Order: sequence, then C-alpha cells, then structure tokens
Amino acid sequence: MTTSPFRSAVVPAAGLGTRFLPTTKTVPKELLPVVDTPGIELVAAEAAEAGAQQLLIVTAPGKEAIAAHFADSGELEQTLADRGKDALVAKVRRAHELIAVRTVTQAEPLGLGHAVGCAREAIGADEGCFAVLLPDDLVLPSGVLTRMAQVREEKGGSVLCAFDIPREEISAYGVFDVTDTGDADVKQVHGMVEKPAAADAPSTFAAAGRYLLDVAVFDALDRITPGAGGELQLTDAVALLISEGHPVHVVVHRGGRHDLGNPGSYVRAFVDFALADPDYGPELREWLTARLAN
Ligand code: UTP
Repeated sequence: MTTSPFRSAVVPAAGLGTRFLPTTKTVPKELLPVVDTPGIELVAAEAAEAGAQQLLIVTAPGKEAIAAHFADSGELEQTLADRGKDALVAKVRRAHELIAVRTVTQAEPLGLGHAVGCAREAIGADEGCFAVLLPDDLVLPSGVLTRMAQVREEKGGSVLCAFDIPREEISAYGVFDVTDTGDADVKQVHGMVEKPAAADAPSTFAAAGRYLLDVAVFDALDRITPGAGGELQLTDAVALLISEGHPVHVVVHRGGRHDLGNPGSYVRAFVDFALADPDYGPELREWLTARLAN
C-alpha cells in the first residue's frame, strides 16, 4: 500500500432511500446486507484498505442504526465467545475495528453536495483533500482509491472514478467530457452531462461513486445553487471548480461494479456475492440452475 495522501473518507448515508420503501421506513438502505454484511461495511473496508484513518458517516435523524453498527459490541461479543463462536466474534468485531468512525448529521436530505458539506467541520484544517465513497456503489475489486490518490499526487486537484460503459447503455449515467492524458486510464475532465442521449454523450466514461476531492470543493458548495429537486448537487460544485481552472481527472476503473441503491441491481449484487461465497455458493448455483431450467 502506498502512503495515502488523504486521512478522511466521507460516506454520505443520510438519504431517504425511497427506492427501497417500504423497508427503508425503518431500516437504512446502507445497512441492507450483501449476503450477511451491510453494504456500508464493505465500503468502510475499502476506505480503510486505501489508508483512510477516519470514516465520516453522514447520517440523518432516524438512521442511528448505522452508527450502532460501527459501535463497540462488547456484550454480544462476550456472549458469542462464551458459546465458543469465535468466527462470529470476528465477524461482529470487524466493523468496529476496521477504522475510526465518526458521524455527522444532515438534518434534512438536501442532496449529495449538501451531505458532503456537512462533513466540513470534521475534516482537519491540515487536510488538503478527502475521499467520498457512496455506500450504495460497490466498485470491484477494491484499489481504485489508491490509484486516484496517485493521480492527485501527480496532477493535483480532484480525482474522480469512471467506468467505460457501452455507448448504447450510456444514457443511464452521468457522463464525463474528457481529453486524453499520457495514461490510457487517466483522463482530464472538462465537464459532465447527466443522462445524455447515446448520440450526444461526450464520451463513454460514466461516473462512479468514488471521489477524491480537494477541500476547495467546500467553498464551491457554498457558491452553487440547488439544482434538480431542490438538492445541492456535488457534480455542480465540481463543475464550478473546473470552470475556475481547478484540475479534475478521472481514473477509468477496469473492473466490476454493483449498484445497491435500487432493488433490481441490489438483487444482482446479492446473488453475485452469494455465488462467490464458499458456504452458500455451491448450493445456490445448483438451485439457480434448476430454477432457471423451469
Ligand atoms: P442516492 O440518491 O442513491 O440515495 O444517494 P437516496 O436519495 O437515499 O435514494 P433514493 O433515490 O431516495 O432511493 C447516494 C448516497 O448519498 C446519500 C444517500 O444516503 C446515498 O448513500 N445522500 C443522498 C445523503 O447522504 N444525503 C442526501 O441528501 C442525499
């Protein structure tokens, strides 16, 4: 692992999760399990692996279960230990031991940009940049944040993450307007277009939920006005920075991705992880094969 040039990783988790109603009336979307582990714990592990020292989770009133998931669970661990369930003790402990977690509250769901702005006071005055990981976006395999950190060291500014998507599918995504650099997997960003028609898309590079943002983004967030749905959009703040000459690059991640944010793609993620699981995979594969033959 290279030295990480960022200390804090912000995980916005204060949204309403409307696509998962009615479950999200009481259960935060970020705690829905991928096999047995909440998506937000998988993302916390990714941040820790990239060298982050603190995870700043942006939560909302009513979503206290998220902080509870990362809190010390000594009593449960003791009960499991007394019963000789050491493997379960390790599973329970993992979230607490991965990384130091702090929560900040977004009182109202005023958008991703606003949620990131809520983390401002929790980021040290000496921190030049910080990571943002969307907990409903699994980027696989892990490691892209480390690559993004290297690009910031080389080029300065802010670094985002992109996937190269087939043009016929591009209209479902936020798409970067880019020019090449000397590295095929690093592009300079000049703008971004939300959900363009395939013919109008400026590239086939779609935005993913990983950001390495210069702290200048906080000032930009103060200067943008709410966009679609009255929400403060993070991409508008990044666009403002670009217009002012702030360097923004993307790392094109050549790997897989799962969107946990809606039931259709969440099911795919669950099945994909379950198939790879040594305990559940073989039986599930057999069952699925038989089920699909009917
Ligand atoms: P999403 O748009 O995927 O989440 O935001 P959502 O708004 O909760 O979901 P739907 O659209 O109603 O189904 C991406 C991430 O940003 C967080 C969400 O919790 C999610 O993890 N978010 C979004 C905030 O923290 N605050 C907001 O105001 C909006």
